[in-house]
Amino acid sequence: EPRVATINPLGVQITVDGSQTLLEAALAQGIAFPHSCTVGTCGSCKCRLTEGRVSAITDFGYTLSRQELEAGYILACQAQVKGAITIEIENPGADLPAPEVFAGRIIRTDDLTHDIKAVTLGLDRPIDFVAGQYADITAPGLPARSYSFATAPERGGRQEISFFIRKVPGGQFTEKLFAGALAGAEVSVSGPHGTFHLRPGEAPIVCIAGGSGLAPLLSLLQHARKNRVRRRCVMLFGARTQADLYKVEQIEEIARDWLPSLRFVPVLSHEPAESGWAGLRGLVTDHIAATLPEGDRAEFQGYMCGPPGMIDAAIAELTRLGVPLPAIHYDKFTDAG
Ligand code: FES
Repeated sequence: EPRVATINPLGVQITVDGSQTLLEAALAQGIAFPHSCTVGTCGSCKCRLTEGRVSAITDFGYTLSRQELEAGYILACQAQVKGAITIEIENPGADLPAPEVFAGRIIRTDDLTHDIKAVTLGLDRPIDFVAGQYADITAPGLPARSYSFATAPERGGRQEISFFIRKVPGGQFTEKLFAGALAGAEVSVSGPHGTFHLRPGEAPIVCIAGGSGLAPLLSLLQHARKNRVRRRCVMLFGARTQADLYKVEQIEEIARDWLPSLRFVPVLSHEPAESGWAGLRGLVTDHIAATLPEGDRAEFQGYMCGPPGMIDAAIAELTRLGVPLPAIHYDKFTDAG
């Protein structure tokens, strides 16, 4: 049986040979198939299998949620095609800028919490990116690390870019950074990567951030405000204690002139009982139901960044509340050292 894949909504057919992945075949045949890592970890090449069968080179379940697997989502970069298949991709040819390599220098670091720093780099030339995307940063002699842009993009590109970096005990890169040993260091920056971004439309938005996962959502909200996006928004931010909350004033400032309304809801999981914190406690995902207005939950688009456990719980909760799975977008963060 010939291996043929029909790619919707483009309506094009490609042939896939036995040694190729679905993504390789699509790219070789000139399709602008969304992708980034090509090794099954970023989720950019996620698409829905609507007919036929594929086999997985590495288990899709490492990257996709149970709900996505059940709905037929696959990773094109890890899929080998059996016979004839039909898939559906989102946002075909999405106009995300092509990645390039830049020379940069660490020009500033600011403490956000006891273990998260905002790190600002100066680049040799402006970089064009979409709010929500990330870049790979490599300091000499250290492994590359992926971090999301924490500021909004600028027309014509941005030459100063910032990231929020959490210290990982024992981590080669972050230990050096937090010890101040990388001040002024020359780094190489490759990007932008990833497909996490605000989808167009009028739909109300629910954002859920955990820990250092605030960066891409802050970028997205700043960009949306700058462009006068008028969509109702709920922003949940989960942290351990009050000392782990950061950029709260900036979020509140965005909320003040956001139309028609932005509701900001911080949730603390480990705040001491006697601290006087009057806000919500527990896991951020336990407060989604009470925060999303009943009645029009099915209208929402979800945008989430944080640790894998939080993302999985949030996807389960949002789908339970009636938010459609294709309207849920996320970026799983594992703080790498
Ligand atoms: Fe397939 Fe990253 S490109 S998971």
